[in-house]
Amino acid sequence: MTTLTQLPAWQQLQQQRDSYQEFSLRASFAADPERAQRMSIKAAALKLDFSKNLLTDDTLSALCQLAREAGLEQLRDGMFNGDIINNTEGRAVLHTALRNSQRTEINDGDNNVVPEVNATLAKMKQFVADVHGGVLTGHTGKAFTDVIAIGIGGSFLGPKVATEALRPYAKDGLKLHFVANVDGTALAEKLKRVNVETTLVLMSSKSFSTQETIANTVSARDHFIANGVPQSAIGDHFVAISSNVPAAVEFGMKAENVFPMWDWVGGRYSLWSAIGLPIALAVGFDHFEQLLRGAEAMDKHFCEAPLEQNMPAVMGLLSLWYSNFFGTQSQVLLSYDHYLRGLPAYVQQLDMESNGKSVDKDGNPFDYQTGPVIWGGEGTNGQHAYHQLIHQGTAIIPADFIMPLQSHNPIGKHHNMLAANCFAQAQALMQGKTFAEAKAELAGKNLDEASLDRLASHKVMPGNRPSNTLLMDKLTPFTLGALVALYEHRTFVQGALWGINSFDQWGVELGKVLGDAVLAEIEAETQPNKLDASTNALVASLRQGSI
Ligand code: F6P
Repeated sequence: MTTLTQLPAWQQLQQQRDSYQEFSLRASFAADPERAQRMSIKAAALKLDFSKNLLTDDTLSALCQLAREAGLEQLRDGMFNGDIINNTEGRAVLHTALRNSQRTEINDGDNNVVPEVNATLAKMKQFVADVHGGVLTGHTGKAFTDVIAIGIGGSFLGPKVATEALRPYAKDGLKLHFVANVDGTALAEKLKRVNVETTLVLMSSKSFSTQETIANTVSARDHFIANGVPQSAIGDHFVAISSNVPAAVEFGMKAENVFPMWDWVGGRYSLWSAIGLPIALAVGFDHFEQLLRGAEAMDKHFCEAPLEQNMPAVMGLLSLWYSNFFGTQSQVLLSYDHYLRGLPAYVQQLDMESNGKSVDKDGNPFDYQTGPVIWGGEGTNGQHAYHQLIHQGTAIIPADFIMPLQSHNPIGKHHNMLAANCFAQAQALMQGKTFAEAKAELAGKNLDEASLDRLASHKVMPGNRPSNTLLMDKLTPFTLGALVALYEHRTFVQGALWGINSFDQWGVELGKVLGDAVLAEIEAETQPNKLDASTNALVASLRQGSI
């Protein structure tokens, strides 16, 4: 089998890479007034300007050629059609079926998933209407005022980040709270703020066996009972989203209040399923449907646009270009929108849990670098903190700037100032500042030549630092759906080209098993002696409650 690095386009890219010693983004823009327009893509109400990348038209062609030689389009179609692409778990990968409104048949093996997806959406819609309309209430008949959503990983971040992002669409009268961490403080702080009589708990766990989620749900149930909710009425206050219905019923939930999850939806790809119920409760089912429609529009674009004009493909290919040909090890996401402040953490989970792998689908070790570290935060805050390293550090860190053009809160000049900062940061990374420019700025400061040179060298900005700018008219449920689906597909593109199974996560398992063994030692009668010397000592300190 030909590996990625043996493909002709890879060899071609390697040759092209040498010419980038001379490449200047500043010069490319000066020489080519069409560059920004040509290197832009509009799709699903988003616009990607990728012109500030270390990229020529020839390199873009070679990258797309690499994608074709690696069979990206066939792999993509296989995912959409229910092929068992999660080969280590023997599962199809059909999160795109959750937001499909066109096809009547999408098969997971012999099973058409479309009817069950539609039935679950209908059930969610009814549930949301009943909670909002006061038809479903707490055990004393009072309408719900608060929802505590308990879950972790993919059963937490998507709903939390989307609910936060869609705050302008929030329904009055229902507050959403999220609890993930097993640190009792996380739960206790939420429980302090709610009245159990009017609180609904949504427990999201595909497996119904995740330690943190079970512990939080059990402790929440204890709190409800201790605060006057009869054991027999727990089913009025606790609802589950899980593929393990018997476990949820045994816990005390009503069978009709368990929303299904399926093997063919990975946790980090699940916000479109009933795992998104907290979002629908927060903003209404109509807005949740708009979120699905935005994602569906991005799916259509991903399936139909030629690779050169295909937003997820171009972003995935650029990521590969930097990782494998420039040795970059991280990427930064910069949300210039307060409502989107959670997006970097969301994409971090999505990308790093999907592509943080060292062997290919067949178990062969890679001879090239794979998943980068994803990090980031909210603009403009980062400009007064970590942007220093992006501008002047020794490593190249490709950046994604994300910016809605209209604000939900147009106060004074704030939005123009926000936009100016966003655009100027991308510009500064691209053009940099030469030694001569830095020195010229210091002219007239009464410095001798040696001091001038020394100071100027600190002010030099290398420039040629790549970035994408992603724009949308406004942050809406539709544009959010498109944005999240864009990052899902970018992750897919990278994983597919690298030969990764992006849909398993075996690396998280050992820690869970060892965590159980350590917990057993913490709670044992005897002094800890079953672990390594360091861990035994840590356990002993914990038991003493003192260092
Ligand atoms: O530990 C990783 C993981 O399995 C994620 O992939 C998943 O989203 C999360 O834990 C929660 O799992 P569950 O929904 O089964 O509780």
